[in-house]
Amino acid sequence: MNDKELVAFEAAKLALNGMVIGLGTGSTANYFIEHLAKRQSDEGLTISTVASSTISAIKAESCGLTVRSIAQLTHIDLYVDGADEITPNLSLLKGRGQDLVMEKLLAKAADQFIVVADKSKLVGRIGEKFMIPIEVIPNAWQMVKHQLNQYGAEGDVRLNASKDNVAISAHGSYILDMHFPESINDEALNAILNSTPGIVEHGLFYSIASQVLIADNGTIEVMRTQKPL
Ligand code: A5P
Repeated sequence: MNDKELVAFEAAKLALNGMVIGLGTGSTANYFIEHLAKRQSDEGLTISTVASSTISAIKAESCGLTVRSIAQLTHIDLYVDGADEITPNLSLLKGRGQDLVMEKLLAKAADQFIVVADKSKLVGRIGEKFMIPIEVIPNAWQMVKHQLNQYGAEGDVRLNASKDNVAISAHGSYILDMHFPESINDEALNAILNSTPGIVEHGLFYSIASQVLIADNGTIEVMRTQKPL
């Protein structure tokens, strides 16, 4: 088992009978889906799932899991997903896969949000390795970009893979990929992004994760939040 599979295997042990379980998106989340499905078939676990993306729903159904519509649910028991960056205070950067709107909905709706990743995702600050993806109402992208420029942010609207048009997220938004000055900490950045009109959702997951499981060469470290959720 590689490190991503190892943490996913560990997280799948948290599933209990009767739970509604949110499925993340990405290669680590895919391992979780596989191990959850294995527990369902090996142990007769009675669970249902809700997916953060079409690709994860397809994967889950092909593994034999029951996938429910988010429209039927008010909350979920457990959400397991990967991340692109993780800081020591459990701030996350997510959204590389363009599914961050659904990912954040599920993360906030979950009693427990468990993040699974290998050590390569650990950073000192959010934005260290990647730009911050910010989903915006299509007509508002120039206004939002201008507003964020006032805070010293730099970046632009994301283009599609062939670079001949703008990219569209799974939610139907345009995406700004922005870099912010280091002087703006996670809490302040979260407040700025949450209060800028035209922003649908953003990839900074601040104070949402319950626990982070980090695999490093076959061992797992559990990172917990230092303040009560
Ligand atoms: C998806 O939109 C992201 O938030 C993923 O959680 C992230 O890209 C993790 O991907 P891997 O598990 O493939 O590293």
